[in-house]
Amino acid sequence: MGRPGGLAIVLLVARQLAVIYGAPLKTTFEGCRRGSLSGVDYDCCPSEYRGPILDFELKYNASAPVRIRRAMDCLDEDEASEYGEKLRKGISLMKALPADDPRSFAQQARLHCAYATGSFVTGSEGFDIHFSWFFHPWHRWFLYFHERILQTLLGDPTFTIYFWHWDHDGEAIIGRNKCSKSGMYFPAIYADPDSPLFHAARSLRPEFPALPVDLGLTGAESMDVPYRPKDLLLARNVAVMHDVMVIKSNTSRIFLGRDLRAGGKRVLPYEGGGSLEVTGHASIHWWVGGDLRTPPTAGKDPVFYAHHGNIDRLWKLWPLGGQGRANPTDPDFLDAEFLFYDETKNVVRVKVRDAMDTRALGYVYEFEERNEAWWNYQSTWNSWLKPVTHGPDTTTERSQGDPTS
Ligand code: C2O
Repeated sequence: MGRPGGLAIVLLVARQLAVIYGAPLKTTFEGCRRGSLSGVDYDCCPSEYRGPILDFELKYNASAPVRIRRAMDCLDEDEASEYGEKLRKGISLMKALPADDPRSFAQQARLHCAYATGSFVTGSEGFDIHFSWFFHPWHRWFLYFHERILQTLLGDPTFTIYFWHWDHDGEAIIGRNKCSKSGMYFPAIYADPDSPLFHAARSLRPEFPALPVDLGLTGAESMDVPYRPKDLLLARNVAVMHDVMVIKSNTSRIFLGRDLRAGGKRVLPYEGGGSLEVTGHASIHWWVGGDLRTPPTAGKDPVFYAHHGNIDRLWKLWPLGGQGRANPTDPDFLDAEFLFYDETKNVVRVKVRDAMDTRALGYVYEFEERNEAWWNYQSTWNSWLKPVTHGPDTTTERSQGDPTS
């Protein structure tokens, strides 16, 4: 029986060549297994992974008007209360779905976990969409389906998720639009303990609601977030934004992260990640702490989706810097495939190339222009990046997250 053996060898060689010369990553739910991150095991395969797989088609939104994902801090009082009411309703409906419904809040968090822990396999390796050039497009898709599910549960196709505008302090002028409030504080609608937007597993220091976020927070500091005074944080945050968006951004390798192809090996967390992913993005995860602190559990906190709205917006802003700031045209990037669940529980196969234009996906962001406060920032920025560790010692009141990041 030489022939089946010969075929197997040919397939094996083809697979090895694909690994060496590249081929786009394809996600399959088959063979999903327990994953791990930083030595901690996680069981987060999706609960239902049978049924037909549909290919994504842009006709999903072809006739719908383009929606605007707005900055939460820039809403007036009426808009804020209307939005808060809808979002609370949508998230509570999502949380009330049976736990194994792929649209449920818990299942969405599991899907994020599966893509973060090597649960899905390429070649013989589990892969992680973080710390790679897929970080931005994958999360764009993740929010896209989250939003579609909310629209359906709310019976409102115009519903749009708004973002936490944490790179914006009140004084910044953004294009012709003005917003005089600061987005650098923890958004109030997620802080009410009686709301479905609240998440008990956070480890914000008690004084943090009164303080701006710390966009320069490092992984090393993340188990015991240091206190820094307000003025220092406001100034340093602007410096950090300039650093990750303007200074460390002139190639897609630096901004988006390393390439990842079929059969690609996983790297250690934070190795290979893009500039905004590892600083700013990760800093918010650490600053809020608790479940948000590490990718496998981060999707359990509703504020995740507002945080990632801003990341998605900042990805759109990045090419405005010109000079090499362009998304890869490599087919191994554009043709990579991921699987998600849509609002009718179908499994949908998407390609990165279909995520490159948010307008085609039915939305744009408020403030898609440069934020001049950090874009043109010129100063002794690196002196702001030095850690400052003095301040009130309230750390004992914080719960301990798991030590994975
Ligand atoms: Cu998938 Cu902010 O992480």
